[in-house]
Amino acid sequence: MTDQPVGRTAGQTHATAYDEATRDRLAADAAAIAARYPQQRSALLPLLHLVQAEDGYVSPRGITFAAETLGLTTAEVSAVATFYTQYKRHPNGTYTVGVCTTALCAIMGGDAIWEELVEHLGIGNDQTTDDGAITLERVECNAACDYAPVVMVNWEFFDNQTPDSAVALTDDLRAGKPVKPSRGANTVVTFKDMSRVLAGFSDGRADEGGDAGAATLAGLQVAHENGWTAAPYGDEGTK
Ligand code: FES
Repeated sequence: MTDQPVGRTAGQTHATAYDEATRDRLAADAAAIAARYPQQRSALLPLLHLVQAEDGYVSPRGITFAAETLGLTTAEVSAVATFYTQYKRHPNGTYTVGVCTTALCAIMGGDAIWEELVEHLGIGNDQTTDDGAITLERVECNAACDYAPVVMVNWEFFDNQTPDSAVALTDDLRAGKPVKPSRGANTVVTFKDMSRVLAGFSDGRADEGGDAGAATLAGLQVAHENGWTAAPYGDEGTK
């Protein structure tokens, strides 16, 4: 299912640079990313996603590449890469399965889903299954509370999950079966492919399933039925 190495072990060595062809390809992509910003260093976040699209994590050679490309030190790049959980410090699985265990999802079943997946997959937070298919993560609120409890696969939504449905989802992913998110894009792509999208290179799926769902619109519908409107901005409303 995957050609990614799984995890890092003590003493494991890393490639310290890209070969010439790879570096040229990445340099062209990096130039396209940097051109979107008035200051080159502002391109660091998407550039780190580009590194993950290549290596499956923010690799030592990727940190060096980003630093050299943007005129930063490797310490500055590392400081940013280690701040955000979306940047992986060791090779990620093909699919990041994120279980929301923030308060609302937790009480709606997120905690039970988490415990079931830990048991079923035999791994803990930020760990990867032996086949390299799944990296399991506890994730914070995805602003999808109206569909709690939510599980995300490479940042695609799987709404109203149960422990059983989450187990079935991970089984399908490990078996290489296609899975369909509850909303948004119709498919789930690999971690590397999604990382390239996050770097700013469209894969053509952004406009799939763009409508808001019934749960999201429920409050608006109640407001319409009762003739409620938002308070005006200014003297009579909230400043
Ligand atoms: S608490 Fe889970 S999406 Fe908000």
